[in-house]
Amino acid sequence: MSLASSRAAFARAKGSIGGGAGSGMRAAMRPHPLYVQRAQGAHVWDLDGDVYVDYVMGWGPLILGHSNPHVSAAVIETMSSMQLVGTGHMGEILAAEAVLDAVPHAERLLWSNTGTEAIQVALRLARAATGRQKILKFIRCYHGWHDSVFASLRDSHAGEAPVAASQGQSRSALLDLVTAEFNDVTRLTEILANARENDIAAVVLDPIMSNAGLVEATPEFLAALRRLCDAHGVVLIFDEVITGFRLARGGAAEYCGVRPDLSVFGKAIAGGFTQSAVAGRADLIDQVAGGVVHAGTFNSNPIAMAAVKATMDVLTDASIYQRLEAAGGGLEEALTPALAGSASPATVNRVGSLLQIVPASGYESTDGRDSEWNRFIGALLDQGIMMTPSGKAFVCVEHSAEDFAKTAMAVEAAASAE
Ligand SMILES: Cc1ncc(COP(=O)(O)O)c(C=O)c1O
Repeated sequence: MSLASSRAAFARAKGSIGGGAGSGMRAAMRPHPLYVQRAQGAHVWDLDGDVYVDYVMGWGPLILGHSNPHVSAAVIETMSSMQLVGTGHMGEILAAEAVLDAVPHAERLLWSNTGTEAIQVALRLARAATGRQKILKFIRCYHGWHDSVFASLRDSHAGEAPVAASQGQSRSALLDLVTAEFNDVTRLTEILANARENDIAAVVLDPIMSNAGLVEATPEFLAALRRLCDAHGVVLIFDEVITGFRLARGGAAEYCGVRPDLSVFGKAIAGGFTQSAVAGRADLIDQVAGGVVHAGTFNSNPIAMAAVKATMDVLTDASIYQRLEAAGGGLEEALTPALAGSASPATVNRVGSLLQIVPASGYESTDGRDSEWNRFIGALLDQGIMMTPSGKAFVCVEHSAEDFAKTAMAVEAAASAE
């Protein structure tokens, strides 16, 4: 691949866009972000016209691939009749009913725009319902970039007071955060058994640590969470921004067999358009009819609602989940032998259609500072394979055996060149 036009575009972007990219995650892509002119199915074409197998997939939303025809048609049809109405429309009701049909533990939902935003809505509902202030989150888990939860993302932060993940964050916001290690039932019990004294309103977790090496919550940890939250009046929030509609139609709750009180959905819910939701117990959600304020100009806008409804319609076909599982398995089978001959050993962690190449030096060495890892990810792009900077691959229903064979060859070449 030449990458010349993307290199030039990144240099140009730095003159107008802070950091040269739409988010810090994109700016961290190696050797630089790819600039795309077309995206279809499992592939993207760069400004030079070269084609790449896309495992970034918009950072997760595109479980149906780029430009799913059913979703695109619904959006185009809606655009021809309305764009933004600032009041009620049938699309939001149909979309809400379709989401609740997919997520049986949820009785109601609230619309929002991004995962970060919807997490804040869930925390507000939990604080209002319990009259308590503090939120328990787990070390390494990412729940969006908002000051209230963007903290303690590294292993070394275990046992410390919450550590801000960015300069410029509010110190006082972190006073309302409590952290513990994922899957540590003993510590969880210590904190939640005294939830009232510890002022704990909610526990928020991503049940498979989607952004930190794909570690699954153990059944014991999940059972303890549910039991302790029930016993001590704490709201259990599943952050399903990545897992929702991907691991199963009913998300991680269905996959793990545990019912949270609130679930936060984003990414895949709208098939590539912008929308998120908090769904869950009616008594919690219906607080917005009382003193809890929930707002947002673009909440439940008709275009996004058409995309949500169309996505939910496609997902009623159970074969989608067989295809996602088969595709995830296909990539794992291709990658495992390809990595076996590597000078720096790495393993493949997989949960359904989410995969991550984890170097033996540990998950945290993928965070942008390790030049050898960056060379590996850059070498993949050079051979037509676009992965996230941390080596995570979002697989979609459109990825094929041919894509996996091409990926295996690229991984083998990149790994053996070390
Ligand atoms: C688990 C998880 N929660 C929350 C978020 C925040 O979502 P958004 O980027 O839509 O604000 C993300 C984003 O990657 C995520 O992976």
